Amino acid sequence: MSVVEKAIRKLQEQKQHPAVDPAVAGDASPAHEPLPAHSADAALAGRQPPIVLERGVLRAAGLLPPEEDTALLSRQYRKIKHPLVAQAIGRGVPRAPKGYLLMITSAMSGEGKSFTALNLALSLAMEKDLHVLLVDADVAKPQLSHMLGLGDSQGLLDVLRDPHLDVESLIRTTDVPTLSFLPAGVGTEDATELLSSSRMSQIADLLGRHDSRRIVIFDSPPLLQTTESPALTHVVGQIVVVVRADSTPQPVLLDALKTLQEHPSVSLVLNQSTRSVTSAYYYYGYDYGSERPNRDSA
Ligand SMILES: Nc1ncnc2c1ncn2[C@@H]1O[C@H](COP(=O)(O)OP(=O)(O)O)[C@@H](O)[C@H]1O
Ligand SMILES: [Mg+2]
Repeated sequence: MSVVEKAIRKLQEQKQHPAVDPAVAGDASPAHEPLPAHSADAALAGRQPPIVLERGVLRAAGLLPPEEDTALLSRQYRKIKHPLVAQAIGRGVPRAPKGYLLMITSAMSGEGKSFTALNLALSLAMEKDLHVLLVDADVAKPQLSHMLGLGDSQGLLDVLRDPHLDVESLIRTTDVPTLSFLPAGVGTEDATELLSSSRMSQIADLLGRHDSRRIVIFDSPPLLQTTESPALTHVVGQIVVVVRADSTPQPVLLDALKTLQEHPSVSLVLNQSTRSVTSAYYYYGYDYGSERPNRDSA
């Protein structure tokens, strides 16, 4: 059975049995957990003031769940992040090659990539000894950059354009000490080509190797509507495909998954299901990589 067929079958099975286990202890929202005491990156701290994640603004923009759903979402993101972290750092399973570079994508736009990227990043930022770097790589629709007030700031595109720019210097700390953010940067007509360039691969490597505790999450363009997203798939170690429940047509999802057939680690998140209170998200992942070198040799 092909990877795609397996993916669809799993999705169908999960649609038939939608409830996720609600019996996970602890209800705190990722956005409301106490801030960890240690800093994301001492070298970054103090250079520019941290970005304040205005929860109310992000909620109103639909990038964070309504307050009454935060506990449920928090539990679901714990389930979602667990296998991703495991593969990223080799916790209980072999480390995935470049598993610390994580791409959030979808077949089409509007399926919840930015929502998932931000909420997953906040959830991951609560993990002990992990530093999360959220990168706005959806250069055509840099929603996260705009919502964080960094729509005009230098970022990924600038560093792709200018080989003399130090990417670390453009990373912004946030008021969550273990979460930092790289804006999309100043857009130009060559944005698509820049994201597909070999320099993107270098930048991703630089970002991943900077700190052994770092997990990089790329909020990425959709797979089927752009050419830059398929290019990005070659530079990351794990791919999360967000599927909007009852919205993404199956043939479209199949087409999107076909573009990922060669990738060793692809997971799906079923987003925004309305089937029951506990079924806003389901998750499953699969991977069939056999060799798992460590971060430095990946
Ligand atoms: N799980 C969710 N719960 C509530 N609203 C969501 C959820 N996921 C996405 N949305 C909403 O759906 C819309 C599209 O989501 P977004 O993350 O911007 O998609 P994309 O980045 O894939 O284009 C936004 O208005 C967002 O608020
Ligand atoms: Mg988006």
